Amino acid sequence: MKAPIPHLILLYATFTQSLKVVTKRGSADGCTDWSVDIKKYQVLVGEPVRIKCALFYGYIRTNYSLAQSAGLSLMWYKSSGPGDFEEPIAFDGSRMSKEEDSIWFRPTLLQDSGLYACVIRNSTYCMKVSISLTVGENDTGLCYNSKMKYFEKAELSKSKEISCRDIEDFLLPTREPEILWYKECRTKAWRPSIVFKRDTLLIKEVKEDDIGNYTCELKYGGFVVRRTTELTVTAPLTDKPPKLLYPMESKLTVQETQLGGSANLTCRAFFGYSGDVSPLIYWMKGEKFIEDLDENRVWESDIRILKEHLGEQEVSISLIVDSVEEGDLGNYSCYVENGNGRRHASVLLHKRAAGKLRSIELTLHTQLREIIRPPVFYLCITM
Ligand SMILES: *[C@@H]1O[C@H](CO)[C@@H](O)[C@H](O)[C@H]1NC(C)=O
Ligand SMILES: *[C@@H]1O[C@H](CO)[C@@H](O)[C@H](O)[C@H]1NC(C)=O
Ligand SMILES: *[C@@H]1O[C@H](CO)[C@@H](O)[C@H](O)[C@H]1NC(C)=O
Ligand SMILES: *[C@@H]1O[C@H](CO)[C@@H](O)[C@H](O)[C@H]1NC(C)=O
Ligand SMILES: *[C@@H]1O[C@H](CO)[C@@H](O)[C@H](O)[C@H]1NC(C)=O
Ligand SMILES: *[C@@H]1O[C@H](CO)[C@@H](O)[C@H](O)[C@H]1NC(C)=O
Repeated sequence: MKAPIPHLILLYATFTQSLKVVTKRGSADGCTDWSVDIKKYQVLVGEPVRIKCALFYGYIRTNYSLAQSAGLSLMWYKSSGPGDFEEPIAFDGSRMSKEEDSIWFRPTLLQDSGLYACVIRNSTYCMKVSISLTVGENDTGLCYNSKMKYFEKAELSKSKEISCRDIEDFLLPTREPEILWYKECRTKAWRPSIVFKRDTLLIKEVKEDDIGNYTCELKYGGFVVRRTTELTVTAPLTDKPPKLLYPMESKLTVQETQLGGSANLTCRAFFGYSGDVSPLIYWMKGEKFIEDLDENRVWESDIRILKEHLGEQEVSISLIVDSVEEGDLGNYSCYVENGNGRRHASVLLHKRAAGKLRSIELTLHTQLREIIRPPVFYLCITM
């Protein structure tokens, strides 16, 4: 029974996406069909769940009791996937029961996975929407299914609250919920600065080893409800521009090459954590982008991530010149950029005289660099 589950989830994801685009509001046999609702129910086998008819939560401006008093009836149908035959549901009234605008499962079985269509109608009016339910098993040796996790991000040394999600249907208005928390499915001696309040776990000052999978567990009737959240921790968002590591801004870097040979200029830079923004790093020759140079011989590699820790990255990009010509020699600059600014540093690609070193690096004081004119500089490296 284990193998089909991941496929089912994948299938649902692709189907529902394309359906939303193609037939957002189809109409068959006089019924307005809103396709599959965006809220997907995902539970572990053996857990209870309440599937609410989404029509009353965003599609129409009425609630179940108003609809009922207006003479509309609510029907539920089940299919194993979009386009599949829909059968009316036989409620047994105990494990699976229809209660007002919802279906309650107490508890779910694996075969409950599928699409649940709720239809409200009278003789002249009909509306329909389908709701997806996936019932999964624990991953081997774990207390959760990793395809049914919630995800949260926290920044180092800031505070972070993790809540036990989607448990409203299991709470009693009169009583504080009793929630147990696990990390990596094990009970833990939590440090004093981690506090529990109602349905949340609060980390007052996030540390690197707070990274991990948090499972909350709530008892409901004779059943348990579990929700798992994977917490990732990043460095604080950077407030600085990226830092060039090679070439460096304060140095004049010269790289030698042989005419007819190939040259590889590799730029390396450190990007602090900048959220989901990908690093911007590229080469230019003077005012020209690499795309504007001889595209048959001069090209830029993909950006490589050399190191990554808590979202902070060290990346590189290479500029390759195949069979170097006289006109390729000169000043190339590597630019790095994020929301806080742009930096650049240059490499002088220079013709190698026979028998000389491959690359010479000269450190000059920035002020000095402005005083020394390029001809002087040429002289000093070719001697
Ligand atoms: C349904 O809506 C009516 C009118 O907005 C409201 O008075 C009533 O309390 C609602 N019923 C439920 C069960 O929410
Ligand atoms: C059916 O329901 C719609 C929407 O509530 C209403 O406008 C219409 O009058 C109803 N038709 C009948 C025949 O009751
Ligand atoms: C999932 O794991 C938990 C904890 O190990 C266990 O109590 C529970 O019975 C398991 N559930 C299923 C459906 O295997
Ligand atoms: C969290 O769970 C995932 C699998 O779902 C696992 O790959 C990862 O290592 C876990 N995190 C930690 C810190 O154990
Ligand atoms: C260029 O140099 C870098 C750094 O040494 C290396 O990782 C990369 O593979 C080289 N690229 C080519 C095309 O030789
Ligand atoms: C190389 O070009 C960059 C960018 O145009 C410029 O800032 C730098 O001064 C130039 N270096 C030399 C040695 O010409």
